[in-house]
Parts: sequence; structure tokens; C-alpha cells
Amino acid sequence: MNQTNDLVLITGGGSGMGREAARRFAAAGATVALFDVNQEGMAETAAGFDTVHAWSVDITDFEAVCAAAADVVEKHGPIGRLYNCAAIMPFGILTEQDNAIIHKQMAINYGGLVNITQAVLPGMLEQGRGDFVSFASMAGWIPMLKTGAYSATKFAVRAFTETLYHENINSGIRFACVCPPAVATPLLKQGKESDWPKMLDSQGEPLAPGDVIDAIEQSLDKGKFFVLPTRDSRIGVLMRRFLPGLIWKQVHDVEGF
Ligand SMILES: NC(=O)c1ccc[n+]([C@@H]2O[C@H](COP(=O)([O-])OP(=O)(O)OC[C@H]3O[C@@H](n4cnc5c(N)ncnc54)[C@H](O)[C@@H]3O)[C@@H](O)[C@H]2O)c1
Repeated sequence: MNQTNDLVLITGGGSGMGREAARRFAAAGATVALFDVNQEGMAETAAGFDTVHAWSVDITDFEAVCAAAADVVEKHGPIGRLYNCAAIMPFGILTEQDNAIIHKQMAINYGGLVNITQAVLPGMLEQGRGDFVSFASMAGWIPMLKTGAYSATKFAVRAFTETLYHENINSGIRFACVCPPAVATPLLKQGKESDWPKMLDSQGEPLAPGDVIDAIEQSLDKGKFFVLPTRDSRIGVLMRRFLPGLIWKQVHDVEGF
């Protein structure tokens, strides 16, 4: 973790990996700005730190995101790191899943990334330095039965972030696109309360959020763009590239249709 004095902005900082990153950065001496719709969650993230500040912002509202980002800069100075964690993850069969929920996922998981990028990245580019961390998922590489709508948002996040990285390759900004398998956060509970695919139970214990944050920092330091935090996730990407039919066969076998 270099540049500990940099101001860190974390969307979805009221829970899970955003919370873990926020508390680590704050403990290392950074000022942290949280954007989330979960005010109680942000208060829990900030507990015990004077340097963690919360903005109640819906990431799908571009005007609100721009206004909050401007407020952060006015109050605390330029943003040195961005972690875009805000997301939702309801699962379901595509023809049965609520139409509004499918669109809402895209608006938050992908549209939120678009909004925070356009609100914050130009300022980072002016400084010519900083870290830009975008959360995709293994679901952004491997679609499965019942995960289609969520996967589509994460394929979009991956394509957007990869293009952004190459459009700004000589900018001095370090980019990372994080692609974890299941991680033990409240997002999993949300998935389990919807139409949970059995396949996700066959993949071992979820990672600890801190392990993902460690992997992000190591990848940034090594100049690696894709953060694939486990050996299985790296194998998964290779399998998807070379043997997608084998993955689909296993998925159909496990789900039973
Ligand atoms: N947990 C996993 O298994 C897992 C695996 C791979 C990738 N990811 C990705 O990692 C990122 C972080 O996930 P997490 O597990 O920490 O999730 P989480 O559910 O613990 O936290 C997500 C946060 O996003 C916030 N949020 C939701 N809608 C919002 C909106 N409209 N505006 C602002 N904030 C909003 C929620 O209130 C919540 O605090 C997400 O992008 C997720 O898709 C998670």
C-alpha cells in the first residue's frame, strides 16, 4: 500500500470489500470518502476513525455522483485512489427474473462505474497519478445458469475498465480490474435470498474480503491489470477460453437442467 496519504474514494463503502478497504486505508493514515445508499453501513465502516467520511449517494444518479465528488475534493483535496465496489447481485432464470431488477443491476453495477469514472477520473488524469480499481468478478468471465443478468453487468464492467486502462495507458494512473470468485460478504446473502445456483456451492469456501484487498495491492504494485486472486480463478479463466463446453456441461449436470 503506497501513497498512504492519498485521499481514497470508495463506492459501496458501507459493506463488504469496500468496508474492508476503507478501514485498512484509514488505519494506514489515509482520509477516506464513502459513497453508498446504506447510511447505517457507512457509519459502521467509519466507526473509530475520524478520517472516514460518508456521502449518501445513489451511484446511478450521475448529477448526484458529480456533486458529491466535487464536495469531496473541495473538503479534502484531490482524489488519489478510487475503489468502485457498489453492486447488487440478485440471481434468477432470465425469462423469469423481474424485468426491473435486471435493468437495475445494469444501472448500478455497470452504470455506477460509468458515473464514478466520468466524475472522478478526469481529476486524477490532471494530477497524472493515482489508482483506479474496478470490481468485476469471475462472473465477468464465466456465465452460468441463473447468473446471466449479474454476469452481463460484470462482462460490461470488464470491457469498460479494460478499454479505460488502454485509453489512459501512459497517464500515470495505475488501473486494476478485480475478478474474485465468491467472497464472504453480505452480497452472497443477497444472492442466496434469490434463485441461488447450486453450482456456486460446489466451489469451496468463499474468500475472506481482506485476501482480495491484499491481492489488489499486490497486482497494482506488480503492474498487473486483472486481479485473479486464487489459483482456481486463474484456471477458470483458462478453462473458459479453451474449454467453455466443458464448463457448461458441468453447470448443466450440477443444476440438473
Ligand atoms: N462478494 C462476492 O462474492 C463478490 C465476488 C466477486 C465480485 N464481487 C464484487 O465486488 C464488489 C463489492 O462487493 P461486496 O461483496 O463487498 O458487496 P456488498 O453487498 O457487501 O457491498 C456492496 C455495497 O454497494 C452498495 N450499493 C448498492 N447499490 C448502490 C447504489 N445504487 N448506490 C450506492 N451504493 C450502492 C450497498 O449498499 C453495499 O453497501 C461488487 O462490485 C461485487 O459485484 C463480489
